Amino acid sequence: MSSNFHHLPVLLEESTAHLALRPGAVIVDGTLGGGGYAQAILEQTGPDGILLGLDHDPEALEAARLRLADFGSRVRTLQCSFARIDEAVQEAGFEAVDGIVLDLGVSSHQLDTPERGFRFATDTPPEETPLDMRMDRTQGETAADLLARASAETLEGWLREYGELPGARRLAKAITEERRREPLRTAADLLRVIDSSRVGRGRRHNPATLVFQALRIAVNDELGALKTGLEASIRILRPGGRLVVIAYHSLEDRIVKRCFRAEARGCICPPRQPICTCGRGPRLQPLTRKPLRPSDHEVMENPRARSARLRSAERIVEAA
Ligand SMILES: C[S@@+](CC[C@H](N)C(=O)[O-])C[C@H]1O[C@@H](n2cnc3c(N)ncnc32)[C@H](O)[C@@H]1O
Repeated sequence: MSSNFHHLPVLLEESTAHLALRPGAVIVDGTLGGGGYAQAILEQTGPDGILLGLDHDPEALEAARLRLADFGSRVRTLQCSFARIDEAVQEAGFEAVDGIVLDLGVSSHQLDTPERGFRFATDTPPEETPLDMRMDRTQGETAADLLARASAETLEGWLREYGELPGARRLAKAITEERRREPLRTAADLLRVIDSSRVGRGRRHNPATLVFQALRIAVNDELGALKTGLEASIRILRPGGRLVVIAYHSLEDRIVKRCFRAEARGCICPPRQPICTCGRGPRLQPLTRKPLRPSDHEVMENPRARSARLRSAERIVEAA
């Protein structure tokens, strides 16, 4: 069965290898997308492995269900954020799982569908690209909503923190001035303000790319979901279970790196305190000291893989 959903899985072999798949394993794909990882996982955990696939985009779930239909009852899917991965696992009837993979961000399908509004550089004129950017279009505020209501300080914070945009304050001010005249509804409206405020000129990244990234992260609370999702994932991994995360920009990768490092240490008492009072032991053994990157060959075949960074860790038993 096929659909028009397109997404080339990134670091696919590396991800499945790090999950240490075996027949009968119960694995959660927290970012099902088009089901590329899920298919490989199901093939490598046959004949009786179970895959629980989550995505908060109903279109992705529909495409993945079609693709994975031949695996029958070995596949369970649920529309929800991986921030609620622990609840999803319990709802599916499991107490703990053998592996979890989070392939963060948006799929090529989402990026390349102009009406989703994730990208300004499409064949569709920017006047016709709405500022939506929600991964789940059934709820929440769009980018246009946020641009209409956020204070200049909040906008500046997003642009600075999520877009690492030079000139964040100037652009935030320009946006609030522009919206007093006319609401920003389309990519063209936003591009005009970016251009006239002259931010990020001469930098390696197109300032518009940074602005779109910042808004997308804010609209979907991507970093908040990642922090909560990592914590929830650790809770429901069984000892020996693997957690594999593929990040696409340094903000995400930093969160994963810090989480793995903190969970390998366990104790959260201040460093100068002579005796541990928090009672927390290590819960993870990181398996990647440095993140894995795609090969030159993979980047040539799939340029969207170029920023990918894979980190993995194994759940260990907490000392009593
Ligand atoms: C890079 S794609 C995953 C592609 C997938 N690995 C494949 O092989 O087809 C990321 C997917 O994760 C979903 N997603 C992003 N953040 C999510 C979250 N917090 N909870 C659930 N799904 C999320 C997006 O909707 C998108 O479909």
